[in-house]
Amino acid sequence: MNPEETRELQAKIGDLKRERNAVLLVHNYQVPEIQEIADFIGDSLELCRKAQGVEADEIVFCGVDFMAETASILNPGKKVILPNTRACCPMAAQLPVKTLLKVKEEHPGVPVVLYVNTLAEAKAECDVVCTSANAAQIVEKLGEKEVIFGPDWNLGYYVLKWVPGVRLIPAPAHGFCNTHRLLGKGEKALELKRQYPEAELLVHPECEPELQEKADYVLSTGGMYKRCRDSPGRSFIIATEIGMVDRLRREILGKTFIPAEPNAECPTMKRITLMNTYEALRDGKPVVKVPEELRLKALKPIERMLEMSK
Ligand code: 13P
Ligand code: SF4
Repeated sequence: MNPEETRELQAKIGDLKRERNAVLLVHNYQVPEIQEIADFIGDSLELCRKAQGVEADEIVFCGVDFMAETASILNPGKKVILPNTRACCPMAAQLPVKTLLKVKEEHPGVPVVLYVNTLAEAKAECDVVCTSANAAQIVEKLGEKEVIFGPDWNLGYYVLKWVPGVRLIPAPAHGFCNTHRLLGKGEKALELKRQYPEAELLVHPECEPELQEKADYVLSTGGMYKRCRDSPGRSFIIATEIGMVDRLRREILGKTFIPAEPNAECPTMKRITLMNTYEALRDGKPVVKVPEELRLKALKPIERMLEMSK
């Protein structure tokens, strides 16, 4: 699509949004042409908070399956649309509910904290949800000696570092994100640090522990955005999915953003396109709707997270 066609399609989406009283919630990893037309763009926690108070008839979620599900859980009265049903986070699929139930059975009475990157069936079986922005805070506030935690074991590593007294029981054994694995253990980031000694190295907690250890700051994508905006630093090496760098370059002018790995692209996030977003708005589908009984069970741990991270 050439730039003129892109602008035309963006304008058509704008018209449809007004007609249908819809909002576009967009994750930081989406392609630039979708980021540009977002009503709200952010990380998983910011999007959860936004979804909670949305005043529109329809929410078009430009992100992945578990995010649209969470928006549906928080907004039973609204139509939630995910423009491509194949935009499914592989990490969320790593924790089927039967795996979680088995771990719970092996550790009776131990509370469960689940990363928001899980499907509603698993969320319904946990005590509190967390995101990369508040995982350590949630586990710390829980104040328990043992916690079942999953699916991302790199995020688990990060939590253990900040809440040293706690024992985390992983569910599943070694959950991880394929995209963040592409960032490796930090050799490339160190090379970039040598090339740009003034640059701050910002690393997402879904990255390998060895890379986290080399970071100046380990942050959610929303945390990265705030750090880049507010820091006196002028240049930043960004260790996460490439869409984050697109947003930083577009919105924070006069600073330099260097991707730690330009090939770190999340294929499922990128299954949302401007064209399928347009078609989804036009046709009012595909709709994501969590059945009511399941919704009520999954709602509690999400609300508890929002309450605990105020
Ligand atoms: P945050 O944007 O919440 O940091 O999470 C990144 C991610 O991988 C979402 O799937
Ligand atoms: Fe899932 Fe990783 Fe993509 Fe996030 S970046 S949506 S965790 S696969």
